[in-house]
Amino acid sequence: MFTIETQATVSLEESYRDLNAQLAALLSGERDLICNAAQFSAFVMQAIVDLNWAGFYFVRGDELVLGPYVGKVACTRIPFGRGVCGKAAITLQTQRIEDVHAFDGHIACDAASASEVVIPVVVAGKLVAVFDMDSPKVGRFSEIDQAGLESFVETFIQSTDVSWSF
Ligand code: SME
Repeated sequence: MFTIETQATVSLEESYRDLNAQLAALLSGERDLICNAAQFSAFVMQAIVDLNWAGFYFVRGDELVLGPYVGKVACTRIPFGRGVCGKAAITLQTQRIEDVHAFDGHIACDAASASEVVIPVVVAGKLVAVFDMDSPKVGRFSEIDQAGLESFVETFIQSTDVSWSF
């Protein structure tokens, strides 16, 4: 006698919830900023398909300076207001860009990048950094991806001592 099992479909939201739990476990027991920023970047690169760059830019004065990342070498300093990262820094809003070539002022670090999400890292009301992800696919990031990736950044903030970076 045969039985037919129906395969439960895991939604994208559920996948992000599972991954966020894995991320919290990965970062637990270590609160160092550089260590957790490096682990976080590698985790995102491993966990999310179709990315070609994932990493941090930290606030230094009125500029963003390159921090831990995974991907090709990137530009080191981005003034507030410049590019997608600089816009996230001055608006304190996540920037989700369907097609970077249609974004006026986009800074092309890797010619392969086609879409991008930049999430501000705000601690105690203060901008500490932005977390940037690039994809070689146009329109790679949906609203669900944005919410999931924002929940990752929230886990990073909760798991990390960022005070010395102010
Ligand atoms: N594209 C970004 C610059 C950083 S790289 O993508 C790593 C921007 O326009 O701000």
